[in-house]
Amino acid sequence: MNDLIGFFDSGVGGVSVLREAVRLLPCEHFLFFGDNRNAPYGPRPLAEIRRLSAAGIRRLLDRDVKAIVIACNTATSAYAEILRAEHPELPIVGMEPALKPAHYARHGGQVIVLATDATLRLEKFQRLMARYGDDVIPVVGHGLVELVESGRSASPEAGAQLKALLEPYTGRQIDAIVLGCTHYPFLREPIQALFPAAQIFDGLAGTAAQLKALLERGGLLTKGGEGSVAFETSGDPSVIKLMKRLMYGDT
Ligand code: DGL
Repeated sequence: MNDLIGFFDSGVGGVSVLREAVRLLPCEHFLFFGDNRNAPYGPRPLAEIRRLSAAGIRRLLDRDVKAIVIACNTATSAYAEILRAEHPELPIVGMEPALKPAHYARHGGQVIVLATDATLRLEKFQRLMARYGDDVIPVVGHGLVELVESGRSASPEAGAQLKALLEPYTGRQIDAIVLGCTHYPFLREPIQALFPAAQIFDGLAGTAAQLKALLERGGLLTKGGEGSVAFETSGDPSVIKLMKRLMYGDT
């Protein structure tokens, strides 16, 4: 085992999680792999998401990482349980839409959960809905991953697509919005602009905190020195530039 922490996403979205983890754990060494060639995963059938997630995460396991973060709600829903069963000794952090805190933040209004088709359809989310699903409006974020993947998260098209998806609810009392896909934090501003009074839940800080807790528990924390971040992709290498831009701002 070496000192690397492996991050996996279908594409660039997981950079939103990585950014938070680096803030919390600046001495760690991170390797981010985005399966950009196959993004988006959300509209694919379960078996295919499992196969792609397994192949992507295999690339990280082959580098002998000390922990894995599945920085993708879709891949977590489809594959985290299988991965945990296969690697019981490995710290594995997954994601799920932050519906629980959003549920408790309600004050008479509703909660929108914006996520991929697969995340909303699969059992993990259905279980969350059974517990915290009162007054929840699940919305599939059609087209949003593609906009972020092509570097257009701040574009007029992104604003127009969000408006088309969310405008039906702008007249209601929406107390909270859950960003249930790691690409969506890059669309936070236009989403907030549509619902100025809503509290937005992205689950990023909680995921980073969970990584830290698992590393601590396993005696795996790196305690000094300067950390590092490396990016890899299955797609066109030019996407690395976008990953760095999303991570560090304009570069
Ligand atoms: N970033 C993803 C998620 O959190 C995956 C989106 C996709 O590939 O459809 O769900």
